[in-house]
Amino acid sequence: MLTLGLNSKPKLSNETFTLISGLIYSRCGIFFALSKKYLLEARLQKRLEVLSLKTFGDYYYYLTYDAEREKEMARLLNTIVTNETSFFRDLMQLDAFRRGVMQRLMNDKEKSGSRNLRLWSAACSTGEEPYTLAMMLLEDGVPSRGYGAEILASDISDNVLRSAQAGVYDKYSLRNTPEAYIAKYFQNSAETYAVNKKVRELVRYRKINLYNAPETATVKSVDVIFCRNVLIYFDDASKKKVLAHLYDSLNKGGYLFVGFSESLHDVTRLFKPLSIERTVVYQKV
Ligand SMILES: C[S@@+](CC[C@H](N)C(=O)[O-])C[C@H]1O[C@@H](n2cnc3c(N)ncnc32)[C@H](O)[C@@H]1O
Repeated sequence: MLTLGLNSKPKLSNETFTLISGLIYSRCGIFFALSKKYLLEARLQKRLEVLSLKTFGDYYYYLTYDAEREKEMARLLNTIVTNETSFFRDLMQLDAFRRGVMQRLMNDKEKSGSRNLRLWSAACSTGEEPYTLAMMLLEDGVPSRGYGAEILASDISDNVLRSAQAGVYDKYSLRNTPEAYIAKYFQNSAETYAVNKKVRELVRYRKINLYNAPETATVKSVDVIFCRNVLIYFDDASKKKVLAHLYDSLNKGGYLFVGFSESLHDVTRLFKPLSIERTVVYQKV
Protein backbone atom coordinates (compact mmCIF):
# COMPACT_ATOMS: atom_id res chain seq x y z
CA MET A 1 0.00 0.00 0.00
CA LEU A 2 1.20 3.50 -0.84
CA THR A 3 1.35 5.69 2.24
CA LEU A 4 1.83 9.41 2.13
CA GLY A 5 3.43 11.10 5.10
CA LEU A 6 2.12 14.44 6.29
CA ASN A 7 5.00 16.27 4.62
CA SER A 8 4.98 14.40 1.32
CA LYS A 9 5.20 16.70 -1.66
CA PRO A 10 3.25 16.33 -4.91
CA LYS A 11 5.03 14.34 -7.60
CA LEU A 12 5.26 15.30 -11.25
CA SER A 13 4.33 12.42 -13.57
CA ASN A 14 5.93 12.12 -17.02
CA GLU A 15 2.58 12.95 -18.64
CA THR A 16 2.03 16.14 -16.65
CA PHE A 17 5.68 17.07 -17.12
CA THR A 18 5.11 16.87 -20.90
CA LEU A 19 2.05 19.14 -20.61
CA ILE A 20 3.69 21.76 -18.40
CA SER A 21 7.04 21.81 -20.19
CA GLY A 22 5.15 22.02 -23.53
CA LEU A 23 3.28 25.06 -22.25
CA ILE A 24 6.51 26.75 -21.12
CA TYR A 25 8.13 25.97 -24.46
CA SER A 26 5.26 27.33 -26.52
CA ARG A 27 5.16 30.58 -24.52
CA CYS A 28 8.83 31.42 -24.23
CA GLY A 29 11.00 28.82 -25.98
CA ILE A 30 12.58 27.54 -22.78
CA PHE A 31 13.23 23.85 -23.21
CA PHE A 32 13.18 21.19 -20.49
CA ALA A 33 14.35 17.70 -21.41
CA LEU A 34 12.70 14.82 -19.52
CA SER A 35 16.02 14.36 -17.69
CA LYS A 36 15.34 17.77 -16.05
CA LYS A 37 11.94 16.71 -14.72
CA TYR A 38 13.26 16.62 -11.14
CA LEU A 39 14.29 20.27 -11.49
CA LEU A 40 10.89 21.44 -12.68
CA GLU A 41 9.23 19.34 -9.97
CA ALA A 42 11.40 20.79 -7.21
CA ARG A 43 11.03 24.38 -8.36
CA LEU A 44 7.28 24.27 -8.97
CA GLN A 45 6.36 22.53 -5.72
CA LYS A 46 6.51 25.93 -4.05
CA ARG A 47 4.03 27.38 -6.54
CA LEU A 48 1.58 24.56 -5.80
CA GLU A 49 1.96 25.23 -2.11
CA VAL A 50 1.32 28.97 -2.50
CA LEU A 51 -1.78 28.32 -4.64
CA SER A 52 -2.97 25.52 -2.33
CA LEU A 53 -3.09 23.07 -5.25
CA LYS A 54 -2.76 19.38 -4.50
CA THR A 55 -1.41 17.99 -7.78
CA PHE A 56 0.65 19.10 -10.75
CA GLY A 57 -2.39 18.24 -12.88
CA ASP A 58 -4.31 20.95 -10.98
CA TYR A 59 -1.42 23.31 -11.60
CA TYR A 60 -1.48 22.61 -15.34
CA TYR A 61 -5.21 23.30 -15.32
CA TYR A 62 -4.60 26.58 -13.47
CA LEU A 63 -1.91 27.62 -15.96
CA THR A 64 -4.22 26.86 -18.88
CA TYR A 65 -7.62 28.13 -17.78
CA ASP A 66 -7.46 30.32 -14.70
CA ALA A 67 -8.09 34.07 -15.04
CA GLU A 68 -4.72 34.59 -13.35
CA ARG A 69 -2.89 32.31 -15.81
CA GLU A 70 -0.74 35.04 -17.41
CA LYS A 71 0.49 36.27 -14.04
CA GLU A 72 1.14 32.71 -12.93
CA MET A 73 3.18 31.97 -16.06
CA ALA A 74 5.36 34.99 -15.21
CA ARG A 75 5.80 33.71 -11.64
CA LEU A 76 6.61 30.26 -12.95
CA LEU A 77 9.31 31.74 -15.20
CA ASN A 78 10.76 33.61 -12.24
CA THR A 79 11.20 30.34 -10.43
CA ILE A 80 12.79 28.37 -13.28
CA VAL A 81 15.17 30.90 -14.86
CA THR A 82 18.17 32.28 -13.07
CA ASN A 83 18.52 36.05 -12.97
CA GLU A 84 22.19 35.89 -12.08
CA THR A 85 24.07 38.94 -13.39
CA SER A 86 26.48 41.66 -12.27
CA PHE A 87 27.84 45.02 -13.31
CA PHE A 88 30.80 44.69 -15.70
CA ARG A 89 30.15 41.00 -16.34
CA ASP A 90 32.66 39.41 -18.75
CA LEU A 91 35.06 42.30 -19.09
CA MET A 92 36.69 41.01 -22.28
CA GLN A 93 33.39 41.34 -24.12
CA LEU A 94 32.86 44.82 -22.73
CA ASP A 95 36.37 45.80 -23.87
CA ALA A 96 35.54 44.50 -27.33
CA PHE A 97 32.37 46.58 -27.25
CA ARG A 98 34.09 49.73 -26.10
CA ARG A 99 37.36 49.62 -28.00
CA GLY A 100 36.30 47.76 -31.12
CA VAL A 101 32.58 47.97 -31.81
CA MET A 102 32.00 51.51 -30.54
CA GLN A 103 35.00 52.85 -32.48
CA ARG A 104 33.71 51.29 -35.69
CA LEU A 105 30.18 52.44 -35.09
CA MET A 106 31.17 56.01 -34.31
CA ASN A 107 33.32 56.16 -37.46
CA ASP A 108 30.39 54.91 -39.55
CA LYS A 109 28.03 57.36 -37.88
CA GLU A 110 30.42 60.27 -38.48
CA LYS A 111 30.53 59.35 -42.18
CA SER A 112 26.79 58.97 -42.55
CA GLY A 113 25.99 62.03 -40.44
CA SER A 114 23.67 60.01 -38.18
CA ARG A 115 23.56 61.19 -34.55
CA ASN A 116 21.52 58.35 -33.07
CA LEU A 117 22.90 55.43 -31.18
CA ARG A 118 20.61 52.63 -30.04
CA LEU A 119 21.67 49.76 -27.82
CA TRP A 120 19.48 46.90 -26.57
CA SER A 121 20.11 44.79 -23.52
CA ALA A 122 17.68 42.06 -24.53
CA ALA A 123 17.48 39.96 -21.35
CA CYS A 124 18.59 42.57 -18.88
CA SER A 125 17.58 40.85 -15.64
CA THR A 126 17.92 43.31 -12.73
CA GLY A 127 19.56 46.01 -14.86
CA GLU A 128 23.29 45.66 -14.20
CA GLU A 129 24.07 45.08 -17.89
CA PRO A 130 22.24 48.11 -19.38
CA TYR A 131 23.58 50.38 -16.61
CA THR A 132 27.11 49.13 -17.31
CA LEU A 133 26.65 50.04 -20.98
CA ALA A 134 25.30 53.46 -19.99
CA MET A 135 28.34 54.11 -17.78
CA MET A 136 30.67 53.19 -20.60
CA LEU A 137 28.90 55.58 -22.99
CA LEU A 138 29.15 58.36 -20.42
CA GLU A 139 32.79 57.58 -19.75
CA ASP A 140 33.51 57.96 -23.48
CA GLY A 141 31.51 61.18 -23.64
CA VAL A 142 29.09 59.80 -26.25
CA PRO A 143 25.96 61.70 -25.10
CA SER A 144 27.90 64.95 -24.67
CA ARG A 145 29.19 64.71 -28.24
CA GLY A 146 25.66 65.36 -29.43
CA TYR A 147 24.53 61.76 -29.87
CA GLY A 148 20.99 60.81 -29.01
CA ALA A 149 22.07 57.69 -27.15
CA GLU A 150 19.43 55.31 -25.86
CA ILE A 151 19.62 51.92 -24.21
CA LEU A 152 16.56 49.72 -24.28
CA ALA A 153 16.54 47.27 -21.39
CA SER A 154 14.04 44.43 -21.64
CA ASP A 155 13.25 41.14 -19.98
CA ILE A 156 10.40 38.65 -19.90
CA SER A 157 10.05 39.03 -16.13
CA ASP A 158 8.20 41.92 -14.47
CA ASN A 159 9.95 41.19 -11.20
CA VAL A 160 13.45 41.81 -12.47
CA LEU A 161 12.33 44.84 -14.48
CA ARG A 162 10.97 46.40 -11.30
CA SER A 163 14.34 45.96 -9.59
CA ALA A 164 16.14 47.29 -12.67
CA GLN A 165 13.99 50.39 -12.65
CA ALA A 166 14.65 50.97 -8.95
CA GLY A 167 18.39 50.88 -9.71
CA VAL A 168 19.49 50.12 -6.15
CA TYR A 169 22.06 47.38 -5.53
CA ASP A 170 24.13 45.74 -2.85
CA LYS A 171 27.90 45.48 -2.80
CA TYR A 172 27.82 41.97 -4.29
CA SER A 173 26.31 43.24 -7.59
CA LEU A 174 29.26 45.61 -7.85
CA ARG A 175 31.88 42.89 -7.33
CA ASN A 176 33.44 43.45 -10.80
CA THR A 177 32.99 47.22 -10.86
CA PRO A 178 36.11 49.43 -10.88
CA GLU A 179 36.31 51.73 -7.84
CA ALA A 180 36.46 54.81 -10.05
CA TYR A 181 33.06 53.93 -11.54
CA ILE A 182 31.57 53.28 -8.11
CA ALA A 183 32.67 56.72 -6.96
CA LYS A 184 31.45 58.43 -10.11
CA TYR A 185 28.19 56.69 -10.98
CA PHE A 186 26.66 55.47 -7.69
CA GLN A 187 25.29 57.06 -4.55
CA ASN A 188 26.33 54.96 -1.62
CA SER A 189 24.32 55.01 1.57
CA ALA A 190 24.70 52.40 4.29
CA GLU A 191 24.63 49.01 2.52
CA THR A 192 23.15 50.16 -0.79
CA TYR A 193 24.39 51.66 -4.01
CA ALA A 194 21.97 53.63 -6.16
CA VAL A 195 22.77 54.25 -9.81
CA ASN A 196 22.85 58.00 -10.37
CA LYS A 197 20.43 60.02 -12.49
CA LYS A 198 22.78 60.60 -15.43
CA VAL A 199 23.13 56.85 -15.93
CA ARG A 200 19.44 56.10 -15.47
CA GLU A 201 18.43 58.76 -17.96
CA LEU A 202 20.03 56.77 -20.77
CA VAL A 203 18.06 53.59 -20.06
CA ARG A 204 14.40 52.83 -20.70
CA TYR A 205 12.58 49.62 -19.87
CA ARG A 206 10.10 47.33 -21.53
CA LYS A 207 8.80 43.87 -20.95
CA ILE A 208 9.67 41.82 -24.04
CA ASN A 209 9.53 38.07 -24.58
CA LEU A 210 12.29 37.34 -27.09
CA TYR A 211 10.41 34.29 -28.34
CA ASN A 212 7.40 36.38 -29.29
CA ALA A 213 7.64 37.83 -32.81
CA PRO A 214 5.07 40.66 -32.45
CA GLU A 215 6.78 41.85 -29.24
CA THR A 216 10.31 41.89 -30.68
CA ALA A 217 9.08 43.42 -33.95
CA THR A 218 8.36 46.63 -32.04
CA VAL A 219 12.12 47.09 -31.54
CA LYS A 220 13.74 48.53 -34.65
CA SER A 221 16.94 50.18 -35.91
CA VAL A 222 19.23 48.95 -33.14
CA ASP A 223 23.02 49.34 -33.51
CA VAL A 224 24.16 46.83 -30.88
CA ILE A 225 22.30 44.05 -29.08
CA PHE A 226 23.51 42.37 -25.91
CA CYS A 227 21.70 39.06 -25.56
CA ARG A 228 23.93 37.35 -23.06
CA ASN A 229 23.34 34.29 -20.92
CA VAL A 230 19.79 33.58 -22.02
CA LEU A 231 20.28 31.45 -25.15
CA ILE A 232 21.36 28.61 -22.85
CA TYR A 233 17.72 28.10 -21.88
CA PHE A 234 16.59 27.51 -25.44
CA ASP A 235 16.87 24.48 -27.72
CA ASP A 236 18.20 24.98 -31.26
CA ALA A 237 14.76 25.64 -32.76
CA SER A 238 14.01 28.36 -30.16
CA LYS A 239 17.49 29.84 -30.55
CA LYS A 240 16.98 30.08 -34.32
CA LYS A 241 13.66 31.81 -33.80
CA VAL A 242 14.98 34.28 -31.20
CA LEU A 243 18.09 35.05 -33.28
CA ALA A 244 15.93 35.76 -36.33
CA HIS A 245 13.94 38.25 -34.23
CA LEU A 246 17.14 39.94 -33.07
CA TYR A 247 18.39 40.04 -36.66
CA ASP A 248 15.27 41.90 -37.75
CA SER A 249 15.68 44.47 -34.97
CA LEU A 250 19.29 45.26 -35.90
CA ASN A 251 20.44 47.84 -38.42
CA LYS A 252 22.41 46.45 -41.33
CA GLY A 253 26.03 46.22 -40.12
CA GLY A 254 24.81 46.15 -36.48
CA TYR A 255 26.44 43.98 -33.81
CA LEU A 256 25.29 41.19 -31.53
CA PHE A 257 26.94 39.98 -28.33
CA VAL A 258 25.86 36.63 -26.91
CA GLY A 259 27.10 35.08 -23.65
CA PHE A 260 30.75 34.13 -23.34
CA SER A 261 29.90 30.43 -23.35
CA GLU A 262 27.19 30.71 -26.01
CA SER A 263 27.79 30.36 -29.73
CA LEU A 264 25.78 30.73 -32.92
CA HIS A 265 27.87 28.07 -34.60
CA ASP A 266 25.59 25.37 -36.08
CA VAL A 267 22.51 27.39 -35.11
CA THR A 268 22.24 30.15 -37.69
CA ARG A 269 24.20 31.66 -40.54
CA LEU A 270 22.41 34.98 -40.35
CA PHE A 271 25.34 36.67 -38.64
CA LYS A 272 29.00 36.95 -39.53
CA PRO A 273 31.36 36.12 -36.65
CA LEU A 274 34.11 38.71 -36.16
CA SER A 275 37.07 38.52 -33.83
CA ILE A 276 37.37 41.84 -32.02
CA GLU A 277 39.83 42.26 -29.15
CA ARG A 278 40.06 38.43 -28.88
CA THR A 279 36.27 38.19 -28.49
CA VAL A 280 33.70 36.79 -30.89
CA VAL A 281 31.18 39.43 -31.90
CA TYR A 282 28.43 38.78 -34.47
CA GLN A 283 27.52 41.21 -37.20
CA LYS A 284 24.44 41.54 -39.36
CA VAL A 285 25.73 41.68 -42.93
C1 LIG B 1 21.03 34.97 -16.46
S1 LIG B 1 20.03 36.37 -16.80
C2 LIG B 1 21.10 37.27 -17.92
C3 LIG B 1 21.30 38.71 -17.51
C4 LIG B 1 22.32 39.50 -18.33
N1 LIG B 1 22.01 39.49 -19.74
C5 LIG B 1 23.72 38.98 -18.09
O1 LIG B 1 24.30 38.33 -18.98
O2 LIG B 1 24.28 39.20 -17.02
C6 LIG B 1 18.82 35.64 -17.91
C7 LIG B 1 17.58 36.52 -18.09
O3 LIG B 1 16.86 36.06 -19.24
C8 LIG B 1 15.49 36.33 -19.05
N2 LIG B 1 14.70 35.52 -20.02
C9 LIG B 1 14.49 34.18 -20.03
N3 LIG B 1 13.72 33.83 -21.08
C10 LIG B 1 13.44 34.98 -21.75
C11 LIG B 1 12.67 35.27 -22.91
N4 LIG B 1 12.04 34.31 -23.61
N5 LIG B 1 12.59 36.57 -23.30
C12 LIG B 1 13.22 37.55 -22.60
N6 LIG B 1 13.95 37.32 -21.49
C13 LIG B 1 14.06 36.06 -21.07
C14 LIG B 1 15.28 35.94 -17.58
O4 LIG B 1 14.12 36.51 -17.03
C15 LIG B 1 16.59 36.44 -16.94
O5 LIG B 1 16.42 37.71 -16.36
